[in-house]
Amino acid sequence: MNILLIGSGGREHALAWAISNSPLLTTLYAAPGNAGIAEVATLVDLDVSNHADVIHFCENHNVELVVVGPEAPLVAGLVDDLEAAGIKAFGPSRAAAQLEGSKAFTKGVCDEASIPTAGYGRFDNKADALAYVRAQGAPIVVKADGLAAGKGVVVAMEEAEALAAVEACFDGSFGDAGAEVVIEEFLEGEEASFFVIVDGKTALPLATAQDHKRAFDGDEGPNTGGMGAYSPAPVMTDALIEQTMREIIEPTVATMAKRGTPFKGVLYAGLMITRDGPKLIEYNTRFGDPECQVLMLRLKDDILTVMLAAAGGALDKVSVRWHDLVALTVVMAAKGYPGDYEKGTVIKGLSEAASDPDVEIFHAGTKSSGGHLVANGGRVLNVTARGVSVKEARDKAYAAIAKIDWPEGFCRKDIAWRALARDS
Ligand code: AMP
Ligand code: GLY
Repeated sequence: MNILLIGSGGREHALAWAISNSPLLTTLYAAPGNAGIAEVATLVDLDVSNHADVIHFCENHNVELVVVGPEAPLVAGLVDDLEAAGIKAFGPSRAAAQLEGSKAFTKGVCDEASIPTAGYGRFDNKADALAYVRAQGAPIVVKADGLAAGKGVVVAMEEAEALAAVEACFDGSFGDAGAEVVIEEFLEGEEASFFVIVDGKTALPLATAQDHKRAFDGDEGPNTGGMGAYSPAPVMTDALIEQTMREIIEPTVATMAKRGTPFKGVLYAGLMITRDGPKLIEYNTRFGDPECQVLMLRLKDDILTVMLAAAGGALDKVSVRWHDLVALTVVMAAKGYPGDYEKGTVIKGLSEAASDPDVEIFHAGTKSSGGHLVANGGRVLNVTARGVSVKEARDKAYAAIAKIDWPEGFCRKDIAWRALARDS
């Protein structure tokens, strides 16, 4: 069958790589894709925000399933429009994507289903929000309600910082995303990401991962989209996974169904493992980037079979198995990221770097130009490896990086430090 994949990052390269190995695949199209995705898919020049054009393309190319990677097209209702045109899609409807699109919406679901999460207040005016911060005191967490590209959250250790964050939200720093603010209790514990796949009623656990959001070694520097990740997350024992399914995931899926807006696709729970058990920090309604890259390297079963079952309401009929290995990815970013950075610098040595069969290099922001591979974004490459231990996976990833010739790039040297510290 023919598949259209939407997106252009490392997550989508990993998905394209996994889909391209499927026995069910005839042709994989990707819009807009990148230079790495072009190795396994046919790139198409489509304006993804023009849903009529996407539908037209699918009809003309017998596309039987559209796989949506990033959140923006989900929140914009691409899946709703495709399904209305009779085209199957993997991903949630606009209404169900509110689990990522609005933090206040998710808090409402938590209230309705008694899901463990941080205590909170939500405010649509500055004076009440400031008064709440003063009443609660620090540490406290201030979040713009809507999608703010990962920049809308301030974990304030001092009250003054929290007050400034509230001011920034209502002064329009995050545009519409900041018209409402959620102010939360500060949770203490270890963070983990938990991925499940859902078909509207059945939720199947996928795998766990941990990422590194700060730009520099030692978890220092500005927040980024993620500088590296590994799977599984050692903190997530089988008992914790079972508890998370029972107390957080299943009540969410049941509540969304009961409301008449069933959730389909990947539900990515950001968890804090506290002394009182797992608590929900946030939901994303898609695979993580770069977490998807490590998940795909561990997946044993055919991804398309699982995605089709999720899109078609038949997840109770499939299972998902994982290689009992550790996968780890190191993000190579353009110097300056997440601030200003140069585009168009030349990258060499990738085929030599990827010669180890346990190494896959996923492209996050690249393009082909004048016969060269050039950087075309902030996060540029995801050097991903698997091994029998965290150490082996990490050593393989860094050995590959040593072979990449890209002076304008940088990476963190300490990915998985927390898991390594546990192992030793
Ligand atoms: P979010 O975008 O909601 O995932 O928040 C970004 C990061 O802020 C999370 O990954 C956590 O590290 C941190 N964070 C968010 N909410 C809380 C909270 N209630 N307590 C402690 N840390 C938090
Ligand atoms: N790596 C974090 C995210 O995809 O949201």
